[in-house]
Amino acid sequence: MKLLLTPQFFFIFIISIFCITYIAPVYCQFKCLEDQKILLLKLKDEFSFNSSSSRKLVQWNENKDCCSWDGVGCDTAGHIISLELDNESIIAGLENSTSLYSLQYLEKLNLALNCFNRIQIPRRLSNLTNLTHLNLSDTCFYGQVPVELSAMRGLVSLDLSNLNAVFQELEIPNLKRLVQNLTELRTLYLDGVNISIKGNDWCRVLSSFLPNLRDLSLVQCGLSGPIDSSLSQLHSLSVLRLDRNPLSTTVPDFFANFSKLTTLSLSYCLLQGLFPSKIFQLPTLQNLDLAYNFDFSGTLPQFLPTSYLRTMVLSYTNFSRSLPDSINNLIMLSRIELSNCKFNGPIPSIITNLTELIYLDLSFNNLTGLIPEFHMSKKLTHIDLSFNRLSGPLSSAHFEGLSNLEYIGLGSNLLTGNLPSSLFVLPSLQKLVLNYNQFDGQIEELPNPVSSQLNVLDLSSNNLQGNIPSSLFVLPFLQNLFLYNNQFDGQIEEHPNPELSQLNILDLSSNNLQGNLPSSLFLFPSLQNLLLSNNQFDGQIAEIPNQDSSQLSTLHLSSNNLQGPIPKFFFKFQQLQTLSLSFNFFNGTFDLDMMRESRNLMTLEVSHNNLSMFSSSNGNSTFSTSLDKLDLSANKLKGEIPTWFWGMINGSRYLNLSFNQLTGFQNPYTTPSIDTLDLSSNQLRGELPIPPSFSTYLEYSNNNFNALPEDIGNYLSRARFFSLSNNSLTGEIPKSICNTSYLEVLDLSNNALNGSLPSCLTESNGLLETRTRIKLARELARK
Ligand SMILES: *[C@@H]1O[C@H](CO)[C@@H](O)[C@H](O)[C@H]1NC(C)=O
Ligand SMILES: *[C@@H]1O[C@H](CO)[C@@H](O)[C@H](O)[C@H]1NC(C)=O
Ligand SMILES: *[C@@H]1O[C@H](CO)[C@@H](O)[C@H](O)[C@H]1NC(C)=O
Ligand SMILES: *[C@@H]1O[C@H](CO)[C@@H](O)[C@H](O)[C@H]1NC(C)=O
Ligand SMILES: *[C@@H]1O[C@H](CO)[C@@H](O)[C@H](O)[C@H]1NC(C)=O
Ligand SMILES: *[C@@H]1O[C@H](CO)[C@@H](O)[C@H](O)[C@H]1NC(C)=O
Ligand SMILES: *[C@@H]1O[C@H](CO)[C@@H](O)[C@H](O)[C@H]1NC(C)=O
Ligand SMILES: *[C@@H]1O[C@H](CO)[C@@H](O)[C@H](O)[C@H]1NC(C)=O
Ligand SMILES: *[C@@H]1O[C@H](CO)[C@@H](O)[C@H](O)[C@H]1NC(C)=O
Ligand SMILES: *[C@@H]1O[C@H](CO)[C@@H](O)[C@H](O)[C@H]1NC(C)=O
Ligand SMILES: *[C@@H]1O[C@H](CO)[C@@H](O)[C@H](O)[C@H]1NC(C)=O
Ligand SMILES: *[C@@H]1O[C@H](CO)[C@@H](O)[C@H](O)[C@H]1NC(C)=O
Repeated sequence: MKLLLTPQFFFIFIISIFCITYIAPVYCQFKCLEDQKILLLKLKDEFSFNSSSSRKLVQWNENKDCCSWDGVGCDTAGHIISLELDNESIIAGLENSTSLYSLQYLEKLNLALNCFNRIQIPRRLSNLTNLTHLNLSDTCFYGQVPVELSAMRGLVSLDLSNLNAVFQELEIPNLKRLVQNLTELRTLYLDGVNISIKGNDWCRVLSSFLPNLRDLSLVQCGLSGPIDSSLSQLHSLSVLRLDRNPLSTTVPDFFANFSKLTTLSLSYCLLQGLFPSKIFQLPTLQNLDLAYNFDFSGTLPQFLPTSYLRTMVLSYTNFSRSLPDSINNLIMLSRIELSNCKFNGPIPSIITNLTELIYLDLSFNNLTGLIPEFHMSKKLTHIDLSFNRLSGPLSSAHFEGLSNLEYIGLGSNLLTGNLPSSLFVLPSLQKLVLNYNQFDGQIEELPNPVSSQLNVLDLSSNNLQGNIPSSLFVLPFLQNLFLYNNQFDGQIEEHPNPELSQLNILDLSSNNLQGNLPSSLFLFPSLQNLLLSNNQFDGQIAEIPNQDSSQLSTLHLSSNNLQGPIPKFFFKFQQLQTLSLSFNFFNGTFDLDMMRESRNLMTLEVSHNNLSMFSSSNGNSTFSTSLDKLDLSANKLKGEIPTWFWGMINGSRYLNLSFNQLTGFQNPYTTPSIDTLDLSSNQLRGELPIPPSFSTYLEYSNNNFNALPEDIGNYLSRARFFSLSNNSLTGEIPKSICNTSYLEVLDLSNNALNGSLPSCLTESNGLLETRTRIKLARELARK
């Protein structure tokens, strides 16, 4: 046959051999058969999909060979054998498609990540009897998995995982019926599918009918333990994932006989007992996850040099004892998570072979000794050793050259010595947390310009001293800077370029900082929380104009030595919610006009200062804040409480005016609505004004009130605490007091009351008797 020898034939022959041997649709664009093309075009028509997010379907074009279409694979004869249409934004059309179920040659079908709107898996899929690979993971299917799928006897891989669903939406009521004829299955993923089966029968079903299983993933399927020994017959198992099933059992020794096991994942399984440490030594094992089995114990073995372990996740278990030096044999190790276990002893210092390490978390153990140097682990991005008992100094050598390191957590240890500021400029470092240690000495200024990626720097609760380097405030990406609870002293200098700062939170509380508050702190454009309490800042705060664009929402200046009037510009911060100025020497007036500027202020604390007067140029204008808490206690406020004042705090939760020198109430007195009102320890006199009717806590003690309104009780309908002790009350206790039903404390002691007690206070009439601790003056009780 002459034809056989033509070059064209030879070429086709070679390509065919190549493509039969290595089915690779990209290189093997066979010519598609016309009927197959028509079916595909019909399929595209039947499917509703979002054409702006589809990447394959949307490109199908009838002018091209359909075997070359994206997601389509053909055999040598031009039949469609593979359709990979995962994540194509298909939402409907599967149920009643006529074309799909006629693609009789189809071997691989992947429709994963298309959300078919809560329909059942179509039974008609079983018409595709030649399917070997079916992937319907994350497809929003609902209801029972049709048993008809068992007709696809050639299935090698079946993925019905649906872990993203809010509830277990898919259910397999009879696992045995579904899989008994699928004896070729090598891959079975049913994550998130509700497998209703008695006890641990799932083990026997899988081992009897699916002897070829290699990859088995049954995460969160509602399976019970114990793990049956029949499972040991699955000799080919390579991946076994049973996470999030309430197995409540031990891990059987025979897992160590799975000679091909690469992944074992059993997190959140309520495991008990001791982990068979031989499993660690399986030379094939790459990934081990036993996390969140709180009652599960074990120890780390002598790791063999033949290990291929890549990830080891044991967090939140009872694993204990020490970390063996042989960890250095785990040359492939990239991820270790051992946090919240009971490991103790030192971290092995020789870890020179851990060159693949990316993620290391040993936090919340009881590790002691020095921090080893990690400079060989060039790929490290995350290291968390916090909440241990590690000691000794930290040098720049520890993390030298780790150009991928993004996170260092060493908080809550016993580390000492100076802090090398080279840490702050590790090229990728975003978060450095060294709080709750014993670092001391000064922090050096950083070189200018600084190339730092730091986003969070937490050095709080150490013994750091000296000046705070002002370069820290303007590190180019720094948002959160925590330096509280140290011994920084000295002044904070004005910063020449406050606009460069990216800070959101600056916490310098509880140090020994001195001098004036630099204005530039208030000019950091993104600053939301400025926390400077418990220092020794002094002097007056200079007014700063034009603060409307400030982002400041929390300003804490309490417990300093600040003087002079309360700065007016604080109230121009339009985002300000909490302002704490207590325990300073602010003096002058508490000014309504100033307060009125502030729109969002919720909490204002100015207790223990020297304020002497209320003032307002226009007490009648309305007040726009939603003040929730106002504490003006322990000042030197004199005279009458102005009428406008009640308007300002109306609706608040808390008002404290105690320990001032207030003498009365300006007329007209309006009843504010307020939860907790403390007017104690003033010089308020005359008849008690009608108390705020919504209050629960009313403290009027230590004043000069001399009369109670007859109908007082009617206004105490919500009150739980009402004290008028140490006043000058005379006459009888009004009978209306019996109208209070929530009162727990009524204190009228140290007054000059007389007459008889209202009946509700003497009779055991249930309600008041049981709830009320009545603290009347003894002499009154005797009368
Ligand atoms: C289609 O996809 C685009 C891009 O992802 C998205 O913006 C649009 O909202 C989607 N349309 C519908 C109807 O879901
Ligand atoms: C799915 O496709 C969208 C674009 O439409 C993409 O953003 C997303 O990462 C893809 N998801 C997966 C899991 O591939
Ligand atoms: C599919 O066809 C059936 C029967 O014709 C019909 O009841 C159903 O509504 C169709 N489903 C869709 C999604 O069109
Ligand atoms: C099932 O496949 C046959 C060909 O084997 C085809 O004739 C028939 O239409 C298909 N059934 C459905 C419901 O698509
Ligand atoms: C289905 O597979 C069987 C066995 O591999 C084969 O004989 C048959 O031709 C295939 N049918 C189709 C339509 O491809
Ligand atoms: C199924 O498809 C999804 C999405 O493409 C993929 O992540 C998953 O690994 C596939 N399942 C199997 C068993 O290959
Ligand atoms: C499994 O195959 C057997 C014999 O081939 C058949 O009798 C049975 O109906 C099949 N089971 C299912 C659930 O398809
Ligand atoms: C699983 O299915 C069974 C049987 O339908 C049902 O009783 C159970 O509530 C389901 N479990 C979950 C978590 O949906
Ligand atoms: C592991 O480290 C030890 C000691 O540092 C060394 O002798 C050995 O050669 C290393 N093994 C590998 C595979 O690098
Ligand atoms: C940590 O170890 C010390 C002894 O080294 C021991 O006293 C202490 O109880 C341990 N703490 C915990 C939480 O295990
Ligand atoms: C407030 O205090 C400053 C300095 O402490 C003082 O100069 C000023 O006179 C005081 N003002 C008032 C109104 O008491
Ligand atoms: C407030 O209004 C009253 C009457 O409405 C008026 O007598 C008084 O002068 C006003 N007070 C101020 C400070 O404007």
